[in-house]
Amino acid sequence: MKKLIILFMMSVTLNAVSQNTSFAELVKQRQSVRNYEDTPVEKDKLIQCIESTRLSPSANNAQPWKFIVVDDPAIKQKVASAASGMGMNKHTKQAPVIVAVVLEKRDMISSIAASVQDKDYSLIDVGIAANQFCLQATDLGLSTCIIGWFSESDIKKHLNIPKNKRVPLIITVGYSDEKIKEKDRKSINEMSSWNGY
Ligand SMILES: Cc1cc2nc3c(=O)[nH]c(=O)nc-3n(C[C@H](O)[C@H](O)[C@H](O)COP(=O)(O)O)c2cc1C
Repeated sequence: MKKLIILFMMSVTLNAVSQNTSFAELVKQRQSVRNYEDTPVEKDKLIQCIESTRLSPSANNAQPWKFIVVDDPAIKQKVASAASGMGMNKHTKQAPVIVAVVLEKRDMISSIAASVQDKDYSLIDVGIAANQFCLQATDLGLSTCIIGWFSESDIKKHLNIPKNKRVPLIITVGYSDEKIKEKDRKSINEMSSWNGY
C-alpha cells in the first residue's frame, strides 16, 4: 500500500510538470545550459530520465549503452575535474549531477551490419539516447548539457569503468533559471530538401 501511494505521488508530480508542453515547444526549450543552481535534483526525476532513455531506439535494438548517474557530490566533483581541464566545461563543477554514457558491446548481428554498411551504429544509438535523456529532463523542468570534451581515462578511473570500454559523452543535469535562447541553426532550405539532394 505504501509503495502504491509513493508511485501515485511520483506520477502526480511528473505529470504536473509536463502538462501542456507540445513536443515542438519542448524541443525549443531544450538547450545546453552552462549555469546551474545549487538545488539538488530529485531522484524520481532522474529515474524518469533514465526510463525514457531506456526506451530509445537503436540499430537492431542492440541498446549498446549504460548510463551511470553520478549524484554523490564527492564522486561528481572528481568526474567534473576530469571534464574541466584546460579551462573547458567549468559548468561540470557547478552541476549537481553528471551522467556518464558508456558504450556497451553490440550484439553480433549489429556488429556484422555495421561492418557491411561501414557505419558506426553504436555511436548513432548513444547520440539518440542522450538526446532522449535531455528532452525528458527538459520536460521535467531540468536543464542539461551534452559534453564530448573530457579526459575519458580519468572518468573511467573515477567511475570504475573497465579500461576497454568507451565513454563517448557525459551529460550535466541540474536546475537553472537561464532564459530560453533563440537557436543558432542552419535555415530549413540549407539543411533539408525534398525528393533529392
Ligand atoms: C556530441 C556533442 C558534444 C558536445 N560537447 C560539448 C562540450 O564539450 N562542451 C559544451 O559546453 N557543450 C558541448 N555540446 C553542446 C553543444 O555545444 C550545443 O548542443 C550546441 O552548441 C547547440 O546549442 P543548444 O544545445 O543550446 O541548442 C556538445 C553537444 C553534442 C551533441
